[in-house]
Amino acid sequence: MGDQDRLRWDARYGAVGAAAPSPAPALPEVFCAHAARFPSAGEAMELACGTGASAVWMAERGMEVCAMDISPVALDRARQLADDHGVGHRCRFVLADLDRGLPTGPPAAVILCHMFRDPRLYAPMAARLAPGGLLAVAVLSEVGDRPGPFRAARGELGRAFGSLHFLAGDEGEGRAWLLAEKPLVHPPPPARPERDLRPEPFPGCPDPK
Ligand SMILES: C[S@@+](CC[C@H](N)C(=O)[O-])C[C@H]1O[C@@H](n2cnc3c(N)ncnc32)[C@H](O)[C@@H]1O
Repeated sequence: MGDQDRLRWDARYGAVGAAAPSPAPALPEVFCAHAARFPSAGEAMELACGTGASAVWMAERGMEVCAMDISPVALDRARQLADDHGVGHRCRFVLADLDRGLPTGPPAAVILCHMFRDPRLYAPMAARLAPGGLLAVAVLSEVGDRPGPFRAARGELGRAFGSLHFLAGDEGEGRAWLLAEKPLVHPPPPARPERDLRPEPFPGCPDPK
């Protein structure tokens, strides 16, 4: 599947032509109203980053970005976009076939995945988020559109990321999206020694039991 995906996506990106103007760095439109929630430092990870508009936006915001995709053509454009905007040193664009799972990496303050869906990645994505980290996911959905193998079923994102704190999201018109935060870990309170509530035995009396 990986080779087919790569060839298909390389052909699509190649058809646009390298001379075409690159998109400006920007979050996907669905997350724009929530841009202030994105941190301005720390590690960001983007899955299926395409030509890098969101990755470069996060790097411009101050994050260290690791963005991955299966298409070398898209990744070359993404690297060029990062260099053009002076943030190449904060971006790592990695060739990865996500059908093989999530590449290893440090805990992420943000995980962004826009218009790429693989339910096998949901649990690893939630696990990779650092405490307090932000998840931003948007996928094609069956809700308000036809069913299909690449589309999320109704409620899929809510169920998959139910361990996270819901911030915003919706599904309809063929799209589902979710913005959620991993709860901070609060250490359990120190164990208090249990008090012995039995009455003190009177001197000379048998211990009441
Ligand atoms: C619809 S595009 C979305 C690109 C980008 N996230 C955006 O919103 O502009 C889907 C992306 O997934 C990538 N992709 C498809 N299959 C993949 C795979 N198995 N592993 C990694 N990336 C893949 C494609 O190369 C393409 O860039």
